Amino acid sequence: MDAITALHTRLSTPRLTDPGPSQDDLACLLRAAMRAPDHGILRPWRFVILEGDQRKLLGEIFAAAQLVDDPESEPAVLDKVRSNPLRAPTVMVVVAETDVGNRVPVVEQVMAVAAATQNMMVAAHAMGIGAMWRTGRMASHDLVKERLGFASKDEVVAYLYLGTPTGSCKALPDESYEPYLRELPNA
Ligand SMILES: Cc1cc2nc3c(=O)[nH]c(=O)nc-3n(C[C@H](O)[C@H](O)[C@H](O)COP(=O)(O)O)c2cc1C
Repeated sequence: MDAITALHTRLSTPRLTDPGPSQDDLACLLRAAMRAPDHGILRPWRFVILEGDQRKLLGEIFAAAQLVDDPESEPAVLDKVRSNPLRAPTVMVVVAETDVGNRVPVVEQVMAVAAATQNMMVAAHAMGIGAMWRTGRMASHDLVKERLGFASKDEVVAYLYLGTPTGSCKALPDESYEPYLRELPNA
């Protein structure tokens, strides 16, 4: 698939099954991430790749975070957060390890990591790999960051779910960009 077609046709695929991306596939995605624009060449991105039972460890971290937020959590709620990382064969946690004192603002460091994530989304699509970018409460939880080896100043930019698309895929929206164009306001 050529780059423009990939950019024009990418869709998220929430329903993912085995097999997950191979090690070569993951290397290809990570090389795409490394080509994201990066103010100051700070390389703020970190990637934690979880496959197989490692996803269950992430689920246990989520359950622990849930209990911090609500020590009275019902077992069903804990089971739900625990099982979330099992929605795809591979979960890549994409983290911005920020340099708070740097002349490059932290928001730009986080944007670079978002660009890296999008590069991987488009690359995955071009390679026939399903991908879904998720965040939610567990992306900003300090306990989750700590258990993943990061500090509260850092940002979990994405839980990137990767695998083989399953079920019916949604249709590509026929959406025009015109409504989003603006003119300079009159002086
Ligand atoms: C920063 C970010 C966080 C997101 N978090 C979630 C999420 O937690 N759950 C979810 O269902 N979609 C989330 N999305 C949106 C989906 O990944 C997806 O882009 C959206 O459903 C639109 O579908 P499409 O990518 O096929 O156009 C997030 C997107 C971004 C950019």
